Amino acid sequence: MDLAALLDRIADDVAPEVGRGAVAGYIPALARVEPWRFGMAVAEVDGAVHGVGDWEHPFSVQSMSKVFTLALALSRGDGVWKRVGREPSGDPFNSLVQLEHEDGIPRNPFINAGALVVTDELASHGDAADALLAFLRQESGNTEIAVDSEVAASEAAHADRNRALAYFMASYGNMRHPVPSVLDQYVRQCSIAMSCADVARSALFLARHGIRNDGSRLLGLSAAKRINAVMLTCGTYDAAGEFAYRVGLPGKSGVGGGIVAIVPGRCAVCVWSPGLDARGNSVAGVAALDRFTTLTGWSVF
Ligand code: DON
Repeated sequence: MDLAALLDRIADDVAPEVGRGAVAGYIPALARVEPWRFGMAVAEVDGAVHGVGDWEHPFSVQSMSKVFTLALALSRGDGVWKRVGREPSGDPFNSLVQLEHEDGIPRNPFINAGALVVTDELASHGDAADALLAFLRQESGNTEIAVDSEVAASEAAHADRNRALAYFMASYGNMRHPVPSVLDQYVRQCSIAMSCADVARSALFLARHGIRNDGSRLLGLSAAKRINAVMLTCGTYDAAGEFAYRVGLPGKSGVGGGIVAIVPGRCAVCVWSPGLDARGNSVAGVAALDRFTTLTGWSVF
């Protein structure tokens, strides 16, 4: 398969979708991103990376960070599953409603409430955002990956919903550290800026059933399988059914317009285009992954 030529073709095919949708407005710094951006990278398990468009341009990873923090938490044991579920929520990513009926246990680690619990779990071992940065730099080989401080400040100034989620869970005893500290770590991890190439390389351990780029094992086979399974069922929130239908891969989106998807045993893919649909997923990004699995036949089904 000539992946470079394939990516060129996908970029042509989805060009009419680029710029459609709306950039995230609830974090003001994200609203300034140019909506016409499009990039896509594929990292193969042997380390080869191919890309098209803005594939080396850094953007805000936002909720894609939740895959990596979950992996880091599970690499230290599976205690986090006592505090967070693994069922699709069917509700928006920042919804509060299910927590009250479900004893402050979030449905899954990829909605905001669940990711706050994962950050709280990681915080028992040191600063969660620092641990995440170290991991991403090592896996991608890019030591310049950093928190975008403008995005972090903007998000921190508009974090009332996440603050409410965290305090609500604290009221059920599902928050071990002070909410302001957990929120600060969560906001910084969401505000990390990376390119599609960086993200695809960093996610390869999920395509390699838990093996990192240096050959060491981050996760056991089961934990890697489970993260992929939860990405498939919960990674694109209340659009997870539609994403599985169209793309057929484990995937995780972010409101920065990125989506990371895994082809187990073969490659990790990251696509970025900032225009979002009503559920917070990149319009051109989903279209590009839909073309990718259609043209390659590489889906998990
Ligand atoms: O906490 C938030 O709302 C953002 N930092 C991340 C949300 C997000 O990326 C949802 N993804 N589609």
